[in-house]
Amino acid sequence: MHSKRILGAALAAQTCSAAVSAARGHDAQCTKTTVAILGGGMAGVAAAQALSNSSIDDFVIIEYQDKLGGRVHHTTFGKDKNGDPYTVELGANWVQGLGSPGGPENPIWTLAKKWGLNNTYSNYSSILTYNETGYTDFSALLDEYETRFETASDLAGTILKENYQDMTVRSGLSLADWKPKRDDMTAQAVEWWEWDWEDAYSPEQSSLVFGVAGSNLTFNQFSDENNYVWDQRGFNRIITGEASTFLKENDPRVHLNSKVTKISYSDDGVTIYKDDGSCVSAAYAVCTFSLGVLQSETVSFTPTLPDWKKTSIEKFSMGTYTKIFLQFNETFWPEDTQYFLYASPTTRGSYPVWQSLSAPGFIPDSNIIFVTLVHEQAYRAERQTDEQTKEEVMKVLREMYPDITIPEPTAFMYPRWSTTPWAYGSYSNWPPSTTLEMHENFRANLNRLWFAGEATSAQYFGFLHGAWFEGRNAGEQIAALLQDECANITDTSEACGNLRHYETLYGSSPLADYSVFDGWSVSSFYSSS
Ligand SMILES: Cc1cc2nc3c(=O)[nH]c(=O)nc-3n(C[C@H](O)[C@H](O)[C@H](O)COP(=O)(O)OP(=O)(O)OC[C@H]3O[C@@H](n4cnc5c(N)ncnc54)[C@H](O)[C@@H]3O)c2cc1C
Ligand SMILES: *[C@@H]1O[C@H](CO)[C@@H](O)[C@H](O)[C@H]1NC(C)=O
Ligand SMILES: *[C@@H]1O[C@H](CO)[C@@H](O)[C@H](O)[C@H]1NC(C)=O
Ligand SMILES: *[C@@H]1O[C@H](CO)[C@@H](O)[C@H](O)[C@H]1NC(C)=O
Ligand SMILES: *[C@@H]1O[C@H](CO)[C@@H](O)[C@H](O)[C@H]1NC(C)=O
Ligand SMILES: *[C@@H]1O[C@H](CO)[C@@H](O)[C@H](O)[C@H]1NC(C)=O
Ligand SMILES: *[C@@H]1O[C@H](CO)[C@@H](O)[C@H](O)[C@H]1NC(C)=O
Ligand SMILES: *[C@@H]1O[C@H](CO)[C@@H](O)[C@H](O)[C@H]1NC(C)=O
Repeated sequence: MHSKRILGAALAAQTCSAAVSAARGHDAQCTKTTVAILGGGMAGVAAAQALSNSSIDDFVIIEYQDKLGGRVHHTTFGKDKNGDPYTVELGANWVQGLGSPGGPENPIWTLAKKWGLNNTYSNYSSILTYNETGYTDFSALLDEYETRFETASDLAGTILKENYQDMTVRSGLSLADWKPKRDDMTAQAVEWWEWDWEDAYSPEQSSLVFGVAGSNLTFNQFSDENNYVWDQRGFNRIITGEASTFLKENDPRVHLNSKVTKISYSDDGVTIYKDDGSCVSAAYAVCTFSLGVLQSETVSFTPTLPDWKKTSIEKFSMGTYTKIFLQFNETFWPEDTQYFLYASPTTRGSYPVWQSLSAPGFIPDSNIIFVTLVHEQAYRAERQTDEQTKEEVMKVLREMYPDITIPEPTAFMYPRWSTTPWAYGSYSNWPPSTTLEMHENFRANLNRLWFAGEATSAQYFGFLHGAWFEGRNAGEQIAALLQDECANITDTSEACGNLRHYETLYGSSPLADYSVFDGWSVSSFYSSS
């Protein structure tokens, strides 16, 4: 029985290779290209540009939506006094970390300047605090948290440098003596503003080491400034603008409204199948779909993903960050303030952070304010109808401003990121106890199929600049392979398509083993002590 099975398998293998030839015959009907880029967000466009910069012009970009930009995504909202709509960003909104004289510059900041994006410095000190009784000043707690967090951040540095065991941000904060009581709702609101608002997950759900390292690598390297983009052309102007430097208008290499359903990969190439029955066969491909899309399994892989890859996809977390927009006929909230922090008396993270677009330097007279939710509170609101959510939001505003008769909003809108089929969430986060090895497995190529995007960046996950660096990297590696620059290089070279992966994971290796933390970061953070 047993040996017969083996024989059966051998026969099956033969039949299988016949089937493969037949499939190749079928592939002959696929559109042929050298490099297929799956997804036209920041990573996809950067990958295409890197290829173009290496004079490789035979590529296609396959994109689900009717435009480039991906999670840099805007829509029209409300109206100005002429009746024309405003543009608001549903996805990425800030350039996070700009650059300092003589230091490295965030590539997104370079692009924001190049394309003349209107943006304004986010002044996190321009904040007023509220609870269910109205204005109440608990801003001193912000300073207290920040002092404690420095201690937690140093601890994270020691753990990373010494290769000690990771822990939750909650543990790190507790060890640093930031221990808010469960019913201290002002402290909970402060903590949400300081942690959850950036990471889209709570301190319990986030890695201390990589949460802090990620923040350091962006804000200590470039600068600690966050500039809010309110350009009425939309933030994705930097992406469509860059695309226009190497693509023609209506370039046939850009396949919009094209939904990928299956990716078949092998040593010879990659074939991509779309939901309209068409296919593209390529020598190499770069998949830039979000972690949420990969986890949703709405795109299938042939052969099925090896365990090490599948495990790595499930190991990371896809956060949801939901902005709820309101326009009124007047700005009844303080006109000169950028931020308002509300401490819900019952529910941590319930309508906590409000941002005014009417503030000076933004879009004065817009009378637009928006409030952000993450994680469970975001899922909850995304399941509700607009009417249900509007009622809750208005109740909070009435608590914040008890002395004002607040009119009904003239416009109200929010996206549902958690169920958007081309994103399934907003951006990735590292849960506690993740290791760099696990992330290498997520990032590693499968034969000729590369993975790139915000989530494949160990340094800048969650950020737009992470997507840019990763897209460029994939494009450069494939260009090097195509141009035979790899002919003499041994298989240990990551640059030549041998991204490291581990079949079995035992734990973490010393930092020194990781090229991702090479150069600036290691020398500046870790050599001084
Ligand atoms: C609400 C929100 C707020 C954010 N705020 C900030 C911020 O302030 N600053 C910051 O730096 N970053 C922010 N980010 C993160 C930033 O937007 C992302 O890191 C970045 O845009 C990711 O780019 P990407 O190319 O990796 O992925 P994506 O932009 O997701 O690109 C992937 C592309 O693949 C397409 N696609 C998906 N599935 C398929 C399929 N089956 N077939 C074909 N195409 C498909 C998608 O449509 C998309 O265009 C935010 C994100 C969100 C959602
Ligand atoms: C492509 O080259 C241009 C011009 O040198 C440069 O500005 C751009 O950053 C390059 N793009 C990538 C993705 O490397
Ligand atoms: C930020 O806001 C605070 C409080 O309003 C103000 O004192 C400070 O000058 C502002 N900083 C900048 C750089 O605008
Ligand atoms: C983060 O940066 C601080 C300095 O601002 C440093 O003390 C700490 O060790 C760093 N931590 C990590 C994990 O990079
Ligand atoms: C940019 O800001 C200027 C000055 O406020 C304004 O006149 C212009 O219309 C804005 N442009 C866009 C595209 O937002
Ligand atoms: C809200 O603030 C008011 C005024 O400072 C205070 O009396 C009240 O106890 C606070 N509510 C909660 C739940 O802390
Ligand atoms: C806004 O609407 C409210 C309620 O309809 C009204 O009382 C108020 O005067 C209006 N404000 C302006 C500036 O028109
Ligand atoms: C590879 O090595 C051969 C023999 O040493 C040499 O002639 C060739 O130029 C090398 N190719 C590259 C791309 O370096």
